[in-house]
Amino acid sequence: MDFLYLELQRCPTLQRGLIPARDSRQGRRKRLATTAHHYPRSVLVTGGAGFIGSNYLLQAVKAHPETRFVNLDALTYAGQRENLAALEAGSAYTFVQGDIADLDLVTALSEEHAFDTVLHFAAESHVDRSILDPLAFVRTNVMGTATLLECARRAWNGRTDVRFHHISTDEVFGSLGPEGLFREDTAYDPRSPYSASKAGADHLVRAYHETYGLPIVISNASNNYGPFQYPEKLIPLVIQNAVAGAPVPVYGKGDNVRDWLHVGDHCSAIDRILQYAEPGSTYLVGGGEERSNLEIVRLLLKLVDQALDRPEGTSLKLIQFVTDRPGHDFRYALDGSKLATDLDWTPSRNLEEGLRETVAWYLANGTWMEQTRNRSYDEYYETQYRDRIDNPTETT
Ligand SMILES: NC(=O)c1ccc[n+]([C@@H]2O[C@H](COP(=O)([O-])OP(=O)(O)OC[C@H]3O[C@@H](n4cnc5c(N)ncnc54)[C@H](O)[C@@H]3O)[C@@H](O)[C@H]2O)c1
Repeated sequence: MDFLYLELQRCPTLQRGLIPARDSRQGRRKRLATTAHHYPRSVLVTGGAGFIGSNYLLQAVKAHPETRFVNLDALTYAGQRENLAALEAGSAYTFVQGDIADLDLVTALSEEHAFDTVLHFAAESHVDRSILDPLAFVRTNVMGTATLLECARRAWNGRTDVRFHHISTDEVFGSLGPEGLFREDTAYDPRSPYSASKAGADHLVRAYHETYGLPIVISNASNNYGPFQYPEKLIPLVIQNAVAGAPVPVYGKGDNVRDWLHVGDHCSAIDRILQYAEPGSTYLVGGGEERSNLEIVRLLLKLVDQALDRPEGTSLKLIQFVTDRPGHDFRYALDGSKLATDLDWTPSRNLEEGLRETVAWYLANGTWMEQTRNRSYDEYYETQYRDRIDNPTETT
């Protein structure tokens, strides 16, 4: 069995896994406020070789042994087929390299596999890259989503025993001040090319429900962390730079606030929503763990020092405050009460415990980090950080 897969299985936060599809509806019937129950048999997963999709598939293929999964992924810089190598030996999982915006390909796959479910993770997902190259985001996130919707509409032709689950972000709601929370009915106010393209996709998904009756659900999640995240994102970036003793860049003063959600919790919420949410509904998914970026960076540096038996505070001196991201949203925070009330779901991970395990996973999987940091990573890092690190606004 694949080494990475073994490591993942050892990770206590991921061992909790997903809820098997059929076991608990009876027991939970009294507590769920919905009457829907969708049991996926043949699932098109898009973007399953990325961070959240890999985590989802590693759990779901095990939790749903009767279900077939086809993973359609273009393998951009962010996709790693090797994450799922352990699944390729089994008959429940098939990998297809391709573009979600390729109408002919998606149509052919639909005809071949008779999907009853689309679980749509694929996206260009990094805000900083969207500032450097916005059109790639519009193409994949808007046109790609439109292509999948149109294929589903044609293939399903009015069926109701099917689902199109669109995975989205809380960033579509814009930026909060120090108070307040996003709710499912908060008006959209995206402010970066990434969040605007995701908002466009959300609107299209909802429009296909209103116009054609397509049975869709949307979940908008907060910032995820955990195994398999592409190394240019904040958490793996801080870990790898701390291990190497390299500068740890922090935008602005590090006072931007995010709500952190363990990817394993996100995957269990997705499964709950996919199976039990009413068609046409939206759910926010958060970790209930609001922290400023500086708090997260300091906590990670402490955890890396502890893991490497370094004296306390060793890595704090690596922090370098650098020129902020343009239009950097100040705060995202969300009200997860609809998901708790309707579907009896709340996150199970404590942030410090989850981050400690995440640090341990990246330390144990240095080879994955090295292999994943491809040329695209080097080019991106140079463009995004070289000038900033050479001209810090402040050091600690
Ligand atoms: N990471 C987060 O914190 C977070 C939070 C909330 C929502 N989301 C959403 O969750 C989804 C997954 O995010 P992630 O962090 O795993 O992203 P990721 O960047 O790690 O993975 C994206 C995957 O999509 C694939 N892909 C990109 N363009 C494609 C195309 N045109 N056709 C087919 N495949 C393509 C990539 O190869 C990659 O495997 C995204 O829709 C994102 O908007 C992410």
